Amino acid sequence: MDAAKIDIAKIDVAKIKSRALSLAEEMTRLRRHFHENPELPWQEMETSRLIASKLEELGLNPQIGVGDQPVGVVADLAGNASGPCVALRADIDAFAITEETDVPYKSCKPGVMHACGHDGHITMLLAAAKLLSEMKDQLPGRVRFIFQPAEEHGYRSGAQAMINDGVLEGVSSIAGMHLWSDIPSGKAQWRAGPTMASADGWKVVFKGKGGHGAAPHVAIDPTLAAAAFIFAVQTLVSRETNPLETVVVSVGKLESGRASNVIPELAEMVGTVRTFNRAVRDGIEERFQRMAEGVGATYRCKAETRYEGLYPYPVVNDAALTRLFRDTAVRVVGEENLGEAPLRMSSEDFSFYQAEIPGCFFFVGSGNEAKGCAAPHHSPHFNIDDDSLPTGVALLTSFACAMLGSKKGEIEG
Ligand code: NI
Repeated sequence: MDAAKIDIAKIDVAKIKSRALSLAEEMTRLRRHFHENPELPWQEMETSRLIASKLEELGLNPQIGVGDQPVGVVADLAGNASGPCVALRADIDAFAITEETDVPYKSCKPGVMHACGHDGHITMLLAAAKLLSEMKDQLPGRVRFIFQPAEEHGYRSGAQAMINDGVLEGVSSIAGMHLWSDIPSGKAQWRAGPTMASADGWKVVFKGKGGHGAAPHVAIDPTLAAAAFIFAVQTLVSRETNPLETVVVSVGKLESGRASNVIPELAEMVGTVRTFNRAVRDGIEERFQRMAEGVGATYRCKAETRYEGLYPYPVVNDAALTRLFRDTAVRVVGEENLGEAPLRMSSEDFSFYQAEIPGCFFFVGSGNEAKGCAAPHHSPHFNIDDDSLPTGVALLTSFACAMLGSKKGEIEG
């Protein structure tokens, strides 16, 4: 084994854990500050400034901004220059929802809330940067800290923008994590291969001919086509996809008409498609348009469709890197607190990084019923258990060390 490599058995996990624990109070304060001051996707200006100032305190040279937007922060920690560069990524944006908790650090902005735990992600990555900075002389390579905006945006992914900006240049592997409210605080989960779904958005407008509800024969009823399409589109799942694959097609909104006795001109629907397999996802896109046009034609309507890949790649964890994570994590949280994650149909734009380089996305429990931290993500009652933060920091820090000891996510032996 190369002398510069870290043998994961030699990573001083006990020291990393105790340093992470010693930052608990400071992290709780900072996490609550971010929670109280949330910013929507692509508007994370204050958040980015505070992240950068914290990184400067560590002696790093953070760069703010992605593309022409003044949000998002990247900083490199240089250990041994000849070693590999690995990346740790946190998402930093909040969600468009009004908070309904009664915590003293409740969001100060109506309609904006850290309802997904990204306030915790920022805090943990800053603390991991601190711990890794303290051990930089022993690091056999570089660590890039990526504070990514706009994970929740959907149509304009922050991950894609950062990749376009070159954030992965020279990076051999990347790790990301999500706090998860249905996993108890103190526990963690890993999963190899497909882990979270791709997410597409679609829209169909059926165009008919308006008329009186009492004379349908002289009108063309687009609501009928829409109703037929709602049923028909499910056969893309049940009749046109291999039953061993997983696909969800959902209609989220249907709008047509305003009055009880009027046949409207238009019926409009929007929805989502989720799957774990890129080929399956591409197949659905093709068939979707054919079905909308066919159903429209059956009922004399014209169908206009739009099909957009929001997060067109599923989150797929590199097998070797995930094994490395599991072997590291078992030393951090113990076998009894580590489990295999179930497949999740929710999506994450971490998948964009994984389409470029090997990546591992893992889950850290933030749930604690007794502390009122059990509401699902994106709920107005969502909150995290701050005691979960040291666990996440110890995992991020230890895993960064482990990744530096392995080339391109591969483990020796
Ligand atoms: Ni999230």
